[in-house]
Amino acid sequence: MKTTSKLILLAVLSFSFLFSSCNNEEPSDNIGEAVVTTGEIDKKVEKLLSKMTLEDKVGQMTQITIDVITKGESVYVSDDPLELDSKLLEEAITKYKVGSILNTANNKARTVEKWNEIIKQIQDVAIDKIGVPVLYGVDAIHGTTYTAGATFFPQQIGMAATWNIDLNMKGAEISAYETRASSIPWNFSPVLDMGRDPRWPRIWETYGEDVYLVSQMGKAAIDGYEGVNNDLSNPNKVASCIKHFLAYGAEKSGKDRTPSYIPEIQLREYYLPSYKAAIDAGAHTVMINSGLINGVPVHADYNLLTNLLREELGFEGVVVTDWADIENIHNRDKVAESQKEAVKLAINAGIDMAMVPYNFNFTTNLIELVKEKEVPMSRIDDAVRRILKLKYELGLFENPYPILSDKSDFGSEKFENAAYLAASESITLLKNDSSLLPISKESKLLVCGPNANSMRTLNGGWTYSWQGDLANNKEFTSKYNTILEAVQNKFGNENVKYVAGVEYKDDGAFWEEKNIDIKAAVNAAKNVDYILLCLGENTYTETIGNINDINISENQEELALELSKTGKPIILILNEGRPRLIRNIDPVSKAVVQTYLPGNFGGDALVDILVGEINPSGKLPYTYPMYPNGLGTYDHKPSEATETMEGIYDYNSSFPVQYQFGYGLSYTDFEYSNLRLSQKEINGNDTFTVSIDVKNIGEREGKEVVQLYTKDMYASVSPDNKRLRRFKKISLTRGESKTVEFTLSGRDLAFVGVDMKYVVEKGDFKILVGGKSEKLKVLNTLKFN
Ligand code: BGC
Repeated sequence: MKTTSKLILLAVLSFSFLFSSCNNEEPSDNIGEAVVTTGEIDKKVEKLLSKMTLEDKVGQMTQITIDVITKGESVYVSDDPLELDSKLLEEAITKYKVGSILNTANNKARTVEKWNEIIKQIQDVAIDKIGVPVLYGVDAIHGTTYTAGATFFPQQIGMAATWNIDLNMKGAEISAYETRASSIPWNFSPVLDMGRDPRWPRIWETYGEDVYLVSQMGKAAIDGYEGVNNDLSNPNKVASCIKHFLAYGAEKSGKDRTPSYIPEIQLREYYLPSYKAAIDAGAHTVMINSGLINGVPVHADYNLLTNLLREELGFEGVVVTDWADIENIHNRDKVAESQKEAVKLAINAGIDMAMVPYNFNFTTNLIELVKEKEVPMSRIDDAVRRILKLKYELGLFENPYPILSDKSDFGSEKFENAAYLAASESITLLKNDSSLLPISKESKLLVCGPNANSMRTLNGGWTYSWQGDLANNKEFTSKYNTILEAVQNKFGNENVKYVAGVEYKDDGAFWEEKNIDIKAAVNAAKNVDYILLCLGENTYTETIGNINDINISENQEELALELSKTGKPIILILNEGRPRLIRNIDPVSKAVVQTYLPGNFGGDALVDILVGEINPSGKLPYTYPMYPNGLGTYDHKPSEATETMEGIYDYNSSFPVQYQFGYGLSYTDFEYSNLRLSQKEINGNDTFTVSIDVKNIGEREGKEVVQLYTKDMYASVSPDNKRLRRFKKISLTRGESKTVEFTLSGRDLAFVGVDMKYVVEKGDFKILVGGKSEKLKVLNTLKFN
């Protein structure tokens, strides 16, 4: 229902609260002056709460989508040009006392000015009628999705591939600035779900498969969005929303919003740490997993929402539902017999705000439930207290729609340069036979494949529109270069032939293809030096992106195989949200480059890598699978590696994959030596250091990601193959050498034991860095809280 509605609507409006003037400083960690202290805010919250009626309070817990209050034929379709319907707006505020609004209308990006106008209108009514400002939220997940001219970074999966924490934080800072410049103070980002199942259509929204990498990237995003002190009164910052708590993406079927069955030991080992790290980093809001875990809708799960999230993790901020997910407890999951029962289950489980989003049934039902004593008033007060506190912290009471006197950095060259840099550090060179790359700018190229000439596929979903389709938004990408355009700019039109061979049907389902003319592509390959074959996926978001076959499309595979018969060297460029299987295409390609979803500057960054102006430094944030029945992760148990290419029952081996987690080539070579530990033995929680020398022994400057893994040799729970514990991206000039030092403790070696507590057990470990390894002995067993 939700997705259908979204599609009908074609929409998600991103708004903004026009906040106090955004100065022309570069976004940074500098914290703006706090408007009021926390103690003062608490007093204000209590004072306001004491004056509120039940209706006022429940209104604060209600979030609707913008189309509910716009002029248009229905709640699903708004008129264009966009206008708020003052009658509907007043009704939402005066009758239902609505506390929050989200989204854009008609799936269309709007100018900063339009956002300012709309939000001013909303806030004027809210302040005038109920004295409480509205909290506006959007998904600005790789840039400010619904604002024309915003700066788009690679999607999260690409940011993870940079393995560059500072770049990720910088990207979040810029998105926060541009989101606030668009007057929006609340961002439904980052996604802290684990990308451990490559079939899942939201893999590209994650930071990949590894617990540590996701946690580090997540913390950097929160620091960027909220500032390192989480002071939301800074007019350049937004409240972050970590989502979707908990273990979304672990569905048994690999399809979005289908059931997950997760034992607690696995939940705690792989899915909880990224949320814990984000809560410790001060994230202000949490969005809940739309699905079921072990048969129970997470939105109705008291154990997860209250016992785990509130009590164990100590989360004090606002808990918001995902889209229509209280309705889903009744409509979809059949756990509640009525809508009203669903509201009762969700609010009593620990939900503070309902993303309803199309009607006011939630509001009416919840008021009745409180009157009938089915939901305690204390639960309502608890939820509203958190919501009001957030509004005070964001400065909305003082300044509900600040007009930014200076937003000169919005979409500026320096922001765009940062996005280009991120794209260039994310692109991952997976294969380079006989050092084929880089190639000379004088080369003659045939460019083909459905991803060669598309801004849509470079950006992915949540870009100007929910699905990333550009039907309403094409004008916004015209100034950026597709791969083809970037190639033409670099190699000269006269050296570049373009025949797609296969195209995506942009007005159909995301997997549909058209204009299949493989012969034309093959014929065009005569007289060229190289074939640049751009394959992958068209854009999709959420359930729309479900697939029945993880192999790359048959048309694309045939295109590759036919082109290979020409004998011309194929450079395979992948541009995809998740790793589609390429085991038949990889062997006929001399070079393979993964671009993920690199954003508006992906074409330029890729071409700069092809000609060697940029030395690639991205590393895979997931395991690139080879077979549909071999979709494991690098941190698998030894027994998962039985059927290797090396032989059967070789438990020290790994299962066959196309490319390993953490893998990526450079145009230079790095030599690792002298791995040393500060001590060979530790007591349970001692700290120790690991050092290694890394030397650039190749011909050009390059960046390397130094990755430290640990391997527990024997444990009471079968130990993971290995686990990433630290990493650092360094830059080395030709011949340069650096010593990299990491500090760890026994806690870093711990795992979740059968009693659900972290434990490090005495025994032998291996410390692995850059192909070297050293032994470490833990002398005693220690449990951690
Ligand atoms: C998605 C969320 C998103 C929300 C609001 C949902 O469908 O699952 O990730 O934040 O919509 O747009």
